[in-house]
Amino acid sequence: MHPPVFRTRLTEMFGMPHPLFVGGMMGHSRAKFVAACARSGAMAFMTPKSFASPEAFGEALAECIDLADGHPVGVNFSISRFHSNEVNDACFEIARAAGVTRFETAGNHPGEMIPRIHDAGGVVIHKSTQVRHALKAAEDGVDALIVVGMEAGGHPGINPHPGHILLSNLLPQVDIPVALGGGLGTGRQLCGALAQGADAALIATRFLTSSEIEVHDNYKTRMAEAGMDDSLAVLHSLKDTWRVLRNKTSEWVAQKEADLAGKASRDDFGEVLMGNYARENAYKAGDMDKGLMSCSAAIAHADKVQSASEIVDTLMAEARAASLAMQARTL
Ligand SMILES: Cc1cc2nc3c(=O)[nH]c(=O)nc-3n(C[C@H](O)[C@H](O)[C@H](O)COP(=O)(O)O)c2cc1C
Repeated sequence: MHPPVFRTRLTEMFGMPHPLFVGGMMGHSRAKFVAACARSGAMAFMTPKSFASPEAFGEALAECIDLADGHPVGVNFSISRFHSNEVNDACFEIARAAGVTRFETAGNHPGEMIPRIHDAGGVVIHKSTQVRHALKAAEDGVDALIVVGMEAGGHPGINPHPGHILLSNLLPQVDIPVALGGGLGTGRQLCGALAQGADAALIATRFLTSSEIEVHDNYKTRMAEAGMDDSLAVLHSLKDTWRVLRNKTSEWVAQKEADLAGKASRDDFGEVLMGNYARENAYKAGDMDKGLMSCSAAIAHADKVQSASEIVDTLMAEARAASLAMQARTL
């Protein structure tokens, strides 16, 4: 593990050596990957919805805690506006019983999850794509916030602003620590996030070539080759923006949206919008043109398959060098 470089309110609150969250990634944030991040000094989150049942999640969580070797691991709860969140309740009880105390919430307002986590002695950091949603979560008692801008991989919401604009507008309005995410793929950017007042960076796409992610080799090869123009945002016309890898599927979706000129509905795209479509065709079978796969322009900085620890070490060495370079330029 790279020696700690920075101490911030979030490194203290989450008990993590580095001010670095690895955002929960549906399908990828499983035991080996999350534990590898934890052992490297970052804080990563298991995603219960990656598993077929709460029982399967419980088994994977136990494996993760074992592999993490005493380093803290967290659990991500994506709260849906459209579907039942019952599985989150079951998985929260499993996580609590396993002794997990660090949680990332995302999607809809965390609401009654906040007192449940606090009653169990835990801390919760809520990820928002809008300043007003972050303020509401702060008002309702979350311990910390993450803001992700429109450049983020996955679902950045319909907010049009980059993360640094969200951060600069949010910080004067809250006392709790804030992490910045979206499009960050280098240690310089991590250092830049801290310089802008964030207490940590949140990074996901940069880890898509991590050797511990359990997907077909074609996936990692394609991600390692991808550059900054290989990410595009689709489904904005459905108010369900999804930032994904540029491939035949995402270009087909973008074209269809353009053809339907703002009148598209989910039915126009069929099975392509189901998470399972990419998981079966691309993650498992290796057909990288079949499916929508979350990915931001930060993929440009993931140019080879590496262990999570090599990625974290590289980010922290770069961040340290950037901080020293800035100090050297300060009068
Ligand atoms: C492959 C992938 C899967 C993701 N799945 C989830 C998820 O299940 N839950 C969630 O809260 N965020 C999810 N995200 C969003 C990330 O946690 C994070 O907020 C975002 O990707 C940060 O931007 P970056 O990818 O530019 O680093 C996903 C992102 C990626 C790249």
